[in-house]
Amino acid sequence: MRGSFITLEGGEGVGKSTNLEFARGHLAAVGKPARVTREPGGTALGERIRELLLDRRETGMVADTELLLMFAARAQHLAEVIRPGLERGEWIVCDRFTDATYAYQGGGRGVAAERIRLMEQWVQGTLRPDLTLLLDAPVNIGHGRAGRRGGEADRFEREEQAFFERVRTCYLQLAHAEPARYRVIDAARPLAEVQAQLGDALNDFLRTR
Ligand code: TMP
Repeated sequence: MRGSFITLEGGEGVGKSTNLEFARGHLAAVGKPARVTREPGGTALGERIRELLLDRRETGMVADTELLLMFAARAQHLAEVIRPGLERGEWIVCDRFTDATYAYQGGGRGVAAERIRLMEQWVQGTLRPDLTLLLDAPVNIGHGRAGRRGGEADRFEREEQAFFERVRTCYLQLAHAEPARYRVIDAARPLAEVQAQLGDALNDFLRTR
């Protein structure tokens, strides 16, 4: 039987890493050890493409180049990791996937959704996540958390507030359009409550498998 493909999405500073670890632990505890991976990245080549995408020195990258690099990394990830894993019946939890392309390149950069859809069909065929967990929080809350993390801001983290407002709006529209696949988690709540919501979402999903 084909495995399950779960993706985790959200803006900056919504607690994706902590909650990814929580989701992995929750699944392992119920006998579904998951392979955790990420985008852009997840393969040796994909991680090199990720470096280009996040590099602050790449000041002249146009939106179409960014879009094509995201899907180039994704094609490799699908071929090396995601498709073979699912065919072996594995559970895969991916930190971001194509919804991030709609939100960041579409919502954030203004690339037409139709163009992204064409790439999605080309690279993925009919493959879509089975469950997408969206960690949602007001942009100022996420930014406060991301800022406290320190370190140099990457090419995306340097964007202005309005960019992240568009990203958030786009994610919420995607969730609204596909309620059967999406679970929106209120990530502005204290961590224990966020994880209770995540646990409920995963348990509901587990009952369908
Ligand atoms: P991360 O910091 O969550 O690992 O993600 C790296 C950045 O890449 C993040 O700012 C979002 C961005 N991104 C896109 O713009 N489009 C995509 O399709 C993906 C997967 C990530």
